[in-house]
Amino acid sequence: MNQKRSQWASNIGFILAAAGSAIGLGNIWKFSGKVAAYGGGAFILCYIIIVFLIGLPVMLTELSIGRRTQKNVVGAFHTLNPKWTFCGVIGVITLFVILSYYAIVGGWVLKYIWVYLSGADFGTGQAAYENYFTGFIAKPVEPLIWGAVFLILCIYVVVRGVSQGIERVSKFLMPCLFLLLIACVIRAVTLPGAMEGVSYLFSIHPEDIGMNTFVGALGQAFFSLSVGMGIMITYGSYVPKKENLVKSAAWICCLDTLVAILAAVAIVPVVFVTMGSDKLGMGGSFAFIALPEVFAQMPGGRWFGCFFFLLLFLAALTSAISILESCVSFLTEEFHLSRLKATLILAIPMTVLSAGYSLSQSSARGINLPWFDFANGLQMLPMNAVMEKFTDNLMIPLGGLFFCIFVGWIWGTKNAAAEIESERNTFRLKKVWSFIVRFLAPVFILLILYFTIGLGQGLS
Ligand code: PHE
Repeated sequence: MNQKRSQWASNIGFILAAAGSAIGLGNIWKFSGKVAAYGGGAFILCYIIIVFLIGLPVMLTELSIGRRTQKNVVGAFHTLNPKWTFCGVIGVITLFVILSYYAIVGGWVLKYIWVYLSGADFGTGQAAYENYFTGFIAKPVEPLIWGAVFLILCIYVVVRGVSQGIERVSKFLMPCLFLLLIACVIRAVTLPGAMEGVSYLFSIHPEDIGMNTFVGALGQAFFSLSVGMGIMITYGSYVPKKENLVKSAAWICCLDTLVAILAAVAIVPVVFVTMGSDKLGMGGSFAFIALPEVFAQMPGGRWFGCFFFLLLFLAALTSAISILESCVSFLTEEFHLSRLKATLILAIPMTVLSAGYSLSQSSARGINLPWFDFANGLQMLPMNAVMEKFTDNLMIPLGGLFFCIFVGWIWGTKNAAAEIESERNTFRLKKVWSFIVRFLAPVFILLILYFTIGLGQGLS
């Protein structure tokens, strides 16, 4: 098939689409939980260092592979060195698994928007919020329907193509997301006593900085920047040669980090003021249990809740679109299928997997395995939590490690840098980047793998 390959219509469109991929549930809900768990400002500081020291260079390796080959994740590695095709295959598998649980959580978010729009009646008393959420996710059918709606929205955008679908939607949704976020931040910081929470967020206690903080920050940074799975290879493959990859990558990292920090400012002080810091480390259910409880106690809480879940939805949608696009481009290019066919072929196993996750939410149907979080011992985990640990703690770092080794030692940083510099661009920090990709990033990633798997610290 000799079709002309799609390209982004504008560089701002590319940056917004890639930022849309990066900015997701990870920024808004995982980040706040981690900030609280790892000691406020200390974590934010380590996170910023890791994003720019490791995340940005790894993102550049992906973008350069994509733009050089103009291929999907698997095809890109196959073109550069067929022996390394497995790297692309790891990426596609990781993405497929992530999307199947992302869609379910996306469905929960849709449900909560609906609940807020229709009056938000969770019942009374603290336990009501938890019962409402656990009752909802344990239902056999309803969460599946919301998940399917979420997936259908993604499919609709992806089938329309790169510039007509993804770019257009991102150009509209990302500014909306920023506006909603700013509205949430203003509401949060104007609550009486909010400054106490803000100062908790930004005060750095050096004793809180340790190896563990960096380990947590690296896992979070990779997931949040959407690196280590080949998303940026796919998105990079649509970037015209004249565009400056370094500048674009820097923009994506800055926007992603800014949104994470703003989201923490919108969430942490509110919870901190209303319920104390111990409510912050609740993990996955935090957004669906602690926050609605907090919103109910605030003036205008219903609308704040509505805006918040809408924000979460926009963030989740653009991220899920990028995952679907990476899988679809693999099928369309390697198996010569139309976009629609490829999406439908993906949708079937995805639905089965998502249904499995959704059904395992009821504790009676959980999986009794410690998997990659040995520190927490044997516990009943729903299947999506198991898969989340599997992707976050093993597959994503492993993907990032292979990308660095491939660019650093196989394809060569010289070739990659030549691609980054193509046409009229300069890459001043070429030597520093090359050192990071060849030595620093691989060593760091190996360290986190050692911490999470070898020592069983667990990241999530
Ligand atoms: N980066 C997204 C987030 O922060 C998640 C994501 C993971 C998106 C993997 C694409 C690929 O939520």
